[in-house]
Amino acid sequence: MRALLALPLVAVVAGASPSPLPGLPRYTAGYTKWTKLNSRPIPPRTVDPHRSTKNVYVSRLPRNGRYPVGTIVVKEGRNRGFVSLIAIMRKTRARAHNGWQMIEWTRPSRTARFTELARGSICTSCHFQARRTDYVFTKRR
Ligand code: HEC
Repeated sequence: MRALLALPLVAVVAGASPSPLPGLPRYTAGYTKWTKLNSRPIPPRTVDPHRSTKNVYVSRLPRNGRYPVGTIVVKEGRNRGFVSLIAIMRKTRARAHNGWQMIEWTRPSRTARFTELARGSICTSCHFQARRTDYVFTKRR
């Protein structure tokens, strides 16, 4: 009887907490279920800091033009059909850069772990240009 009751519970708990891609922090888990900002995949550009075909997901929506503290923006980049790049923006209470913490990870194959490529001011110095949309370039469509 106990086992019968426990089984559905395990299923519910497992469903509510998917695991992140290997090497990525837990807060990125399940990002493909969040709101997708772009309607079509964003193709690579000639001069592209995130060279890949991209989709952008966000865990929360902006209020009065600003994303709430705790918001995670995930940019997923694909090359040759697998997810090869994950770049994130994480809204914190920090004063600098409107609170955004930014990190990018890449991996060479579909089974490899992600490793960090870059973080911090190398990212925010460019994203600052999108300050009217709270440092986020991709608009919701
Ligand atoms: C030279 C400018 C530039 C630099 C440097 C840069 N980005 Fe971006 N980033 C962009 C542009 C432009 C877009 C939107 C178009 C695209 O995705 O190609 C973007 C999109 C993103 C997005 C999706 C949300 C959005 O703003 O549209 C995330 C997340 C992101 N970048 C994270 C990072 C991180 C993390 C770094 C540092 C490792 C970084 N970026 C460095 C220009 C830059």
